[in-house]
Amino acid sequence: MRTLVVFESMFGNTEKIADVIGEEFSNLGPVTVANVDDAPLLVDDVDLLVVGGPTHVFGLSRPQTRDDAASRVASATVSNRVGLREWLDRVSSAEPYPRAASFGTRADKPRWLTGSAARAIRRRLHRIGFRMVGKPGDFKVTGMLGPLATGELDRARDWARELTGTVAAVG
Ligand SMILES: Cc1cc2nc3c(=O)[nH]c(=O)nc-3n(C[C@H](O)[C@H](O)[C@H](O)COP(=O)(O)O)c2cc1C
Repeated sequence: MRTLVVFESMFGNTEKIADVIGEEFSNLGPVTVANVDDAPLLVDDVDLLVVGGPTHVFGLSRPQTRDDAASRVASATVSNRVGLREWLDRVSSAEPYPRAASFGTRADKPRWLTGSAARAIRRRLHRIGFRMVGKPGDFKVTGMLGPLATGELDRARDWARELTGTVAAVG
């Protein structure tokens, strides 16, 4: 199974989750983990697309929220050329569209207070035509810049492992 993991990340937290998910899927076949800055607009030769990003203002980042993020750190943000919102506006695939799953990072509070990039990504991927599998994976950070809450990398690994089972079951 060929897997493409595409992530957006400002401060590196979502990137860490993406790496763990990639590691888990590498047990099943080749994996590419791509920063959205460098992600292909045509998703080809892939059996599963996994997309994740940080929650900004209840959903996906916008140019202004990325500027806000950039102003909080001295060095460049991890993703700094394009956001998932803009990538998802343009991405397509050869038919039949592959399976896809979504994940994201957000504050460690009830979801009605935080919103969820994972859910926004899922809606968009589904609308584009990707065949969604599994539940959106929501992983928590302890502050705006991180770090990830205790145990979240393990939870990401478990989420990915469960997803591999689901993908295997639906074929
Ligand atoms: C401009 C901005 C807006 C944010 N808005 C939200 C929000 O609405 N809900 C939330 O849970 N977290 C919010 N956050 C916190 C981010 O979710 C957090 O920075 C992110 O998960 C860190 O991941 P990253 O290091 O991959 O960028 C916001 C962060 C920034 C910079």
